[in-house]
Amino acid sequence: MSLPTALTAISEESLEALFTAARTANTFTDEPVPVEDLHRIYDLVKMGPTAMNLQSLRVLFICSEEAKQRLVAHMSEGNRAKTLSAPVTAVLAADNDFHEFLTQTFPHFAGAKDSFADETRRVTMARNQAWLAAGYFMLAVRALGYAAGPMAGFKAADMDAEFFGDSTWRSFCVVNIGKPGPDAWRERLPRLSFDQAARIL
Ligand SMILES: Cc1cc2nc3c(=O)[nH]c(=O)nc-3n(C[C@H](O)[C@H](O)[C@H](O)COP(=O)(O)O)c2cc1C
Repeated sequence: MSLPTALTAISEESLEALFTAARTANTFTDEPVPVEDLHRIYDLVKMGPTAMNLQSLRVLFICSEEAKQRLVAHMSEGNRAKTLSAPVTAVLAADNDFHEFLTQTFPHFAGAKDSFADETRRVTMARNQAWLAAGYFMLAVRALGYAAGPMAGFKAADMDAEFFGDSTWRSFCVVNIGKPGPDAWRERLPRLSFDQAARIL
């Protein structure tokens, strides 16, 4: 793999697949998502930058029917049918003890782990950076030719009790993954313009 010394813009077709034509899917076909593609998704996501390279995102891929039933019990009513229709659903979580890995991921700073001794600071950072990586996650799903259906409508405390037990993982977003099914799209909602959302000084 060569270093990106001569960066070039990706094609218009790729921009459409990632951003301008890509949509949030609300139904899915039963075409399976191979396990290799779940690895490919994570292996793209992990390369996205995070503060101090702290990589607090954790992912639970729900593939089996039995696990899917456990999952939907904690989804809000309006999110159940679409979640059942998706071949794979990812529970995105933040690891509140991400700092345990800093000797591996930020080895040149010996004090890295101790700098997160304060729990409030650590949990805030874990969540912020996991959300950042959640954006990479959505784009990685799209980049591999699938539609993503992110959902915040679920009971996080119940989801954590169901899947994460005594661990330090805490769910914050659930993402359906697969090929879009019939009537997958809602009406495209308006976006804010550059002038509304950006300034140039
Ligand atoms: C973090 C997040 C949480 C969302 N939660 C829900 C949800 O609980 N239920 C739902 O039907 N859609 C949910 N959405 C979907 C958004 O409404 C949708 O992505 C947005 O309107 C853009 O749609 P588009 O990609 O088709 O333009 C969520 C999206 C995101 C990014």
